[in-house]
Amino acid sequence: MAKKIIKHSWAEPYKIKMVEPIKVTDKPYRQKAAKEAGYNTFLLKSEDVYIDLLTDSGTNAMSDYQWAGLMMGDEAYAGSKNFYHLWDNVKKYYGMPYFVPTHQGRAAEHMISKIMIKPGDFIPGNMYFTTTRVHQELAGGTFVDVIIDEAHDAQSKHPFKGNIDPNKLEALINKVGAKKIPYVCIAGPVNMAGGQPFSMANLKEIATLAKKHGIKLWFDGTRATENAYFIQQKEKGYEKKTVAQILIEICSYFDGMWVSAKKDLLVNIGGFIATRNKRVFDEARNMVVIYEGLHSYGGLAGRDMEAMARGIEEMVKPENISMRVKQVEYCGKELESYGIPLVKPYGGHAIFLDAKLFLPHLKQDLFPAQSLAAEIYEDSGVRGMERGLVSSGRDPKTGENRYPKLELVRLTFPRRVYTQSHIDVMVESIAEVFDKRKKIKGLKMVYEPKYLRFFQARFVKL
Ligand code: F0G
Repeated sequence: MAKKIIKHSWAEPYKIKMVEPIKVTDKPYRQKAAKEAGYNTFLLKSEDVYIDLLTDSGTNAMSDYQWAGLMMGDEAYAGSKNFYHLWDNVKKYYGMPYFVPTHQGRAAEHMISKIMIKPGDFIPGNMYFTTTRVHQELAGGTFVDVIIDEAHDAQSKHPFKGNIDPNKLEALINKVGAKKIPYVCIAGPVNMAGGQPFSMANLKEIATLAKKHGIKLWFDGTRATENAYFIQQKEKGYEKKTVAQILIEICSYFDGMWVSAKKDLLVNIGGFIATRNKRVFDEARNMVVIYEGLHSYGGLAGRDMEAMARGIEEMVKPENISMRVKQVEYCGKELESYGIPLVKPYGGHAIFLDAKLFLPHLKQDLFPAQSLAAEIYEDSGVRGMERGLVSSGRDPKTGENRYPKLELVRLTFPRRVYTQSHIDVMVESIAEVFDKRKKIKGLKMVYEPKYLRFFQARFVKL
């Protein structure tokens, strides 16, 4: 019988103009490299990696339009024209009137936390993100997770696992009082939950609840375009709206936002604060000169701001955002065809392997996700990242390990970098590790830094 035609709808909407060779290594080489890196994929040399799925942050391929923009950099100390181009596009695509550039997302988180949080405050949010929470804690706040329970269940198929549970939020407001809550922190999609989006209906409900108590909403809009795409694909009433229209509607419920431009904006560096709150804007614009640089460059070169301005225009293009998410979906389906346990639904930026189900014979203290990431690297040179006990860190008050329900390995997709054949190679390797999973014995942590330990911790094999 003739083969049935399959619509290959997500094929890359670009062609390759320049290539970056990657080194091919053998297993003994990688075993040595993994050992030297203390079995922490963050400590590997990039040149020893074959397919780098560590992160989608700053690892994107820029378009010829963006590269051309680099040549248009106005490197004036003050008032660069690229700053004004970027500000115009932030207004146009996010709908926020005020804007402060920063060198990356955590610099924006640092300033917003310092401006908004007083010691003793509580910040409810839809699951933590590592850098966001550490800045909230350093400002004297306590993060409180108010995400729906389904988000902590890797196998729940809830379509909007990034939603906030209004009952959990209300319970916190009743317990500590609205005055102790400077803002509700909403990220979308939720990175640590597996790249899971919130729905517009939930956002509206939370906005109404917060307004009733006089509490503002702040948005981690780092991957907001992906959240807008999921709303378009999954939520009734949004099928006919464009991603750009949905993005503007999402932002309309927030007092302000911070963004790591290293993701959605298709660049290698950058971040910003955008807000409709003039007081916060004035304070951020004043603070940025202490930590980052003048308010018209915020730690960036003029050319970086031009690449960001152009990246904003490209990120909402239907062919770009749909190909991005469909590439992740393709990988998820292929892995599942081998019976490999994953977080479901598939995320926007990454596939998350469920290390608890992958390695059920390992207790969480033996760092199943860290071990799995190291094994995959040794097998094929594919680099993923632990998102489990190591990332979760210790409670700053008790010093005890925070045991997360989710013990995951994240395989994150840089935008426009890898092709379908790279994904096929990666899937085959993970399937091979899955076959041999019983031989994996776990790791012991032998060095633990104080902050964000996952970046630099070292391990030995058991
Ligand atoms: N918020 C979210 C949701 C993020 O994913 C990140 C970074 C940040 C804030 C901080 O931004 O890196 O520019 O300072 N996430 C990267 C990742 C590191 O791999 O997920 P940054």
